[in-house]
Amino acid sequence: MSQALRFDGRTVVVTGAGGGLGRAYALAFASRGANVVVNDLGVSRSGDGSSSNAADKVVEEIIKAGGKAVANYNSVEDGDKIIETALKAYGRVDIVINNAGILRDVSFTRMTDKDWDLIQSVHVRGSYKVTRAAWDIFRKQKYGRIINTASAAGIYGNFGQANYSAAKLALVSFTETLAKEGERSNIHANAIAPIAASRMTETIMPPDVLEALKPEFIAPLVLYLCHESTEENGSLFELGAGFVAKLRWERSKGAVFKVDDSFLPGSVAAKWNEITDFSQPDYPKSPAETDYTSLLEQAKSLSSNPKGEDVRFDGKVV
Ligand code: NAI
Repeated sequence: MSQALRFDGRTVVVTGAGGGLGRAYALAFASRGANVVVNDLGVSRSGDGSSSNAADKVVEEIIKAGGKAVANYNSVEDGDKIIETALKAYGRVDIVINNAGILRDVSFTRMTDKDWDLIQSVHVRGSYKVTRAAWDIFRKQKYGRIINTASAAGIYGNFGQANYSAAKLALVSFTETLAKEGERSNIHANAIAPIAASRMTETIMPPDVLEALKPEFIAPLVLYLCHESTEENGSLFELGAGFVAKLRWERSKGAVFKVDDSFLPGSVAAKWNEITDFSQPDYPKSPAETDYTSLLEQAKSLSSNPKGEDVRFDGKVV
């Protein structure tokens, strides 16, 4: 029988842990021996108000079950204060789960600067601030695990969520870069795009579907990724209702053009099928994987670029 993955002696900060997904993570980590900082500003779905009740209730639940937890009521935008709570209570921090979030869904036509800025502040700046405050500690102790919360809306785009989807995809690239910078110090960062029943989704999904989408079904992957024995780093997972899948970037083989003045919009048109053909894809993981020297060599062997049908901006075809 395999042994349960334990987190004894580890301190986990879970932001937005007063409800929904964050609460499920906090309970799961605590049940496996971790010290948990239950952070929650106690705001409404759209970020209004504030209350200590949400965090307090989850801390109470954990302690009643025999676990260890303390509450923190700061906004994630004051990430340093959240990390301070961890250090004061437990003297260390090992794992950061950037989970807190709000929604301000509105069609782009009606989106205001406030709708845009609030979403970026809580999701992107909030994740940055908490991670930044933990980062130097992680580097010193040569150990750290970070989970950033993306969303399917961020990966694919979603009507009414231009602000939210931009913020959520930002967290994917934030994760990819943290993974590269943290690797040498045994700091691993991964991103998840969960789908689960919470006050965030209760209005957009039918009740029978919500029943199958328990936040508890997101916790197993999060705990697995945060364990000291897990090597996974810089990845993105989509999950919910018992489905767990990894995503990656796919790039078409692409077309090569000669870089001279025969490279015109019509040349692009002539090779459009090649540019968009995914039959021979590759899966780059870093900007350095594009070998421009060899691509330029390939281009040299072309006598010139296809002229194609070049449309001028006055509508004439040349
Ligand atoms: P939720 O609304 O139940 O929980 C979010 C928690 O974050 C709330 O308790 C709220 O008080 C707290 N919070 C909000 N702003 C905060 C701030 N500035 N500082 C500290 N705490 C703050 O939502 P849910 O569904 O549990 O979402 C958790 C995360 O998962 C969010 O980042 C959300 O965008 C993401 N997500 C959720 C999906 C779902 O299906 N439920 C789908 C995709 C992403």
